[in-house]
Amino acid sequence: MQAELENLLLEVSKSRLIDLGDMQQAEELIINSLLRGLRIQRAGVWMLDKEAGGIRCNLVIDLHHQTRDEDILLTRKDFPAYFDALDTERTISADDACSHPATEAFTEVYLKPMGIGAMLDMPIRHRGEMVGIVCCEHIGGEKHWSQDEQSFAAAMADLVGRAISAKERNDYARKLEETNASLENLVQQRTASLEQTLDSLKQAQKQLIENEKMASLGSLVSGVAHEVNTPLGIAVTGASHCQHLLDQLRSKITDNRLTRQALDQHIDSMYQSLNLVTLNLDRAAELVQNFKKTAVDQHNLALTKFELGEYIQVVMSSLLPMLKKHQVNYLLRADEPVAMHSYPGALAQILTNLTNNACVHAFDSNERRNELLIEVTPKQQGGRQQVVIVFRDNGKGMPAAVLKDIFQPFFTTRRGQGGSGLGLSISYNLATAKLKGQLEATSEPEQGTTFTLTLPCDLTD
Ligand SMILES: Nc1ncnc2c1ncn2[C@@H]1O[C@H](COP(=O)(O)OP(=O)(O)OP(=O)(O)O)[C@@H](O)[C@H]1O
Ligand SMILES: [Mg+2]
Repeated sequence: MQAELENLLLEVSKSRLIDLGDMQQAEELIINSLLRGLRIQRAGVWMLDKEAGGIRCNLVIDLHHQTRDEDILLTRKDFPAYFDALDTERTISADDACSHPATEAFTEVYLKPMGIGAMLDMPIRHRGEMVGIVCCEHIGGEKHWSQDEQSFAAAMADLVGRAISAKERNDYARKLEETNASLENLVQQRTASLEQTLDSLKQAQKQLIENEKMASLGSLVSGVAHEVNTPLGIAVTGASHCQHLLDQLRSKITDNRLTRQALDQHIDSMYQSLNLVTLNLDRAAELVQNFKKTAVDQHNLALTKFELGEYIQVVMSSLLPMLKKHQVNYLLRADEPVAMHSYPGALAQILTNLTNNACVHAFDSNERRNELLIEVTPKQQGGRQQVVIVFRDNGKGMPAAVLKDIFQPFFTTRRGQGGSGLGLSISYNLATAKLKGQLEATSEPEQGTTFTLTLPCDLTD
């Protein structure tokens, strides 16, 4: 190749404009170099447009007419011979364009009006496929395209292919950036909507807890009302019976009909009625007293640090009189020390209720050796320290029909015998609401009963 063409080729191929990804700038550089190198006045880059069935001009620079053309379409339908030649994907080198079989069809419509005498078309390849052509046109008469000139034009066409690759890379990078940005956006949106969902879930949870509290308060109050109402009703009946007896007495005195015997009878009846009134008022007062005793006074329960085994020992010692009375032996197994930061008062209340229940319900006959076992086992749960307190008696147990209701307020199998049915329901509330743990029971008739209390060790965690 001539040194001049070689230098020009080297210059263009080293230019950063080719690899910038901007087709317009790359094409301008290539076309201007073709014009310079081949000493022609018109050259352009055309791309195959499969949909339109032809080639479409990207850029044609015409120095002779001082024009720049873009977006012209030549179709296979109009110039079949030219396209047949292109299909061979070889160079079309037409020294005399008006008589060359591939280009002669352009004569009247294009070559003559533009004054074009010779054409040199080079295929542009991208990834091994022809995607367009570089078209070099000589204005004036015929022109012989030398081998050097053809090689130079072919190398320029390859540089267009390189520019296309750069543009493709750029497009991919931009798309990737856009996708990344929209992905980030999406993540932000999703996070925001998840946070919103979480907030409304928390709100709903709060509401549910509130509803639950109100419901259990409602059933507590109606239960108390029901319990207290029965003795009060009997007392009211007794009192009105006394009034009736007094009325009778007064009218007998007024009429002077009162005999000694009638007076004695009246006094007896009034004694009986008043006895009933007193008894039932006492019962009502006792119920209210019990309710007050067992209902939790939240203010008296302070968050404190204590060692669990030791504390259970203290509580159980205070229950010794009751255990002795029912001839119950108890064993506390707390092998490892467990440091607690919790509400010992609530725990004491639960243990008292469970012990009381064992004495009253489990060991109500003297057929067996009454044993109580309390086992303390620490465990890790989801990174938090917990403790499991198993409270087991070997008493008479419960049938499933009783077991399913034992945590309900006012459920008791000893109604009228001192049972209010509040012990376990209060224990359950203390275990879950106050101590943030769980209380579960398993039992079978004649197989004893096991209560399992699972508690977090540190409530400030
Ligand atoms: N260890 C046990 N063995 C057998 N039955 C039990 C045991 N503990 C509880 N129960 C059953 O569960 C019921 C409910 O117990 P809960 O402590 O709530 O009420 P209660 O003991 O009957 O009355 P109180 O309010 O005076 O405690 C009891 O009536 C009894 O039938
Ligand atoms: Mg009880």
